[in-house]
Formats: sequence, C-alpha cells, structure tokens
Amino acid sequence: MVSKILIIGACGQIGSELAYQLRAELGTENVIASDITESNMALVKSGPFETIDARSLGEIEACIQKHNVDTVYLMAALLSATGEKYPEKAWDLNMNSLLNVLNLAKDKIISKVFWPSSIAVFGPTSPKTNTPQRTIMEPSTVYGITKQVGERWCEYYFNNYGVDVRSIRYPGIISWKTLPGGGTTDYAIDIFHKAINEGHYDCFLTEDTALPMMFMEDAVKATLDIMNADADAVKIRSSYNLSAISFTPKQLASEIAKQIPDFTISYNPDFRQKIANSWPNSIDDADARQDWNWKHSYDLVAMTNEMLLQLGKQAVS
Ligand code: SER
Repeated sequence: MVSKILIIGACGQIGSELAYQLRAELGTENVIASDITESNMALVKSGPFETIDARSLGEIEACIQKHNVDTVYLMAALLSATGEKYPEKAWDLNMNSLLNVLNLAKDKIISKVFWPSSIAVFGPTSPKTNTPQRTIMEPSTVYGITKQVGERWCEYYFNNYGVDVRSIRYPGIISWKTLPGGGTTDYAIDIFHKAINEGHYDCFLTEDTALPMMFMEDAVKATLDIMNADADAVKIRSSYNLSAISFTPKQLASEIAKQIPDFTISYNPDFRQKIANSWPNSIDDADARQDWNWKHSYDLVAMTNEMLLQLGKQAVS
C-alpha cells in the first residue's frame, strides 16, 4: 500500500518544497498539504489541501482519518527572530503541535513522524566550530528552547512508546521558490533578491558572521533520506546534526559580485546579530554521514549559481 502523507505547515519555505518533491515521487493524491491559512496559492492549487491549526489535536486527527494518513511531516513553527518577538506564541505553536503529532503516533493513529530541529538548539556556551552532535546545549532563544525540548520529547516517545520519529537539525536553508519568514539565516536569501532587483543589500548581520547553511535541494534530500532509511539505521532519535556549507555575509556577497559586478553591500546589525552570535559557525555531522549515508551536493559556488539563475529567470518572466 502506498504511504499517505500529511505535511503540516506546507505553505512555508521547506514544507512547500517537501510537498512538491513527495508528490512527484508518490503521486499528488498521496500527499496532503495543510497550513493554518492558504498563504501560498501555488502550493494550495498543486494538490489536496486542508486548513489545519497545528495546535489543534482534533483538527489534525480529523484530517488524518479523512485521508487515511500514516506519515506526518510537522513543518509548522515560529522561527528564531519571530519567536523573540512572541515568545509565548512560539512556545504554544512549536510545543503543542509536536506533542499532538507524537501522541497520535503513540496511539498508533499514524506510524511515522518527521520533525525538524535546528542549529538553534546550540547556544553561546556550545563549541562554535565543528559543533559536535553531543555537547553543551544552552539555547538562548525561545525558538532554540522549543527545539531542544522537542528533541527530548522525540527521544522520550521513541524510548518509551516506540514512536518512529526522525529528526535533523537544519542549518539555514537557502531556496528560491518560497520565501522564508522570521528566521535569522533569512539574510542569505534576501541578499539574492536585493542583488538582482536593486543591486544593493543592507545586511542585518555583520560581515564576518559565519553560520551553517544548506541549499534546499540538499535539505529535501536529507529529509527524504532519513525518512526512507531502515529504522535500525536511525540510531539517534533526538535529532541529527546536519551540515553542508558555512560562510559569512562578506563571502556570500563576494561570490554574488562575481556575477553581478556592480553589487554592493552595507552592514547594519540589528537584534538578530545576538541570535546569530549564539549559534555555531559550522557543524560536525559525522553521525548522519555514517548512520544513513548523508552527503551534500551544493557548495557555496554551486548554490550561488543556482540561486542567481533561478531568481534571474523569475525577474525577467
Ligand atoms: N533558519 C532558522 C532561523 O534562522 C534556524 O533554524 O531561525
């Protein structure tokens, strides 16, 4: 029997691309997209869509029963920058949506769960370079706190109730189809739009702020790789470190300037600088590479080329 999938938070940056890819692989009718509003019409029109508030167990359960869903990808979340503005809202959405889905798996209403964690689980006291899988974790953002607690819940539900939940700690994800919202790593997408449309970018981080990043193709591949891996291969049931590229705004700007020679950048750090300062510069993801053969494809040059190519096409069309 073909697996039926529900993606919660499917209108967002990563959820939408997961929906497109899973539909291409499994058939449009087997992937139900959902979000709290119809905020991404391209996605809404691309196949089955339900309006669901991820904080409501009843709404999620009704959708699962209606469509015979067995696997849930829970992509709804308030990210780091928005979370600092609305801490209680971030806690409410990020935690209750996860507990709703984990409890449905505990009760055998679904059989498999994907839930993303983040580099935000690390904090100012974590080692900054090649941050290990297991190390000091004292996140200083409410987003990071929800991800850290979420990881503990995932492992708890696996150990105590046999829930097949799988998770990776996404770095900043760079993509061109759907804009991100409310993250600290969003500058690395905004910079491309501004470079193409205005020739100038005013960056909210300092020029030397190195952060772990990844191109969307790699992020989608990692997500499907861990979900398709044999259960025995997924040895870490909190969340896996995952890494691809690491760069500073200055390095990214100079890569863009190779193709847009008149491009200029200025730096005006705001409250997001403090968040970025608390995160790793780079990540050690040896466990993911060993346990389920994770391998990234896009480096800084390949990612920049693809972003400029795709956004350049959008600009002329
Ligand atoms: N991209 C996220 C953020 O900046 C990190 O997981 O909030």
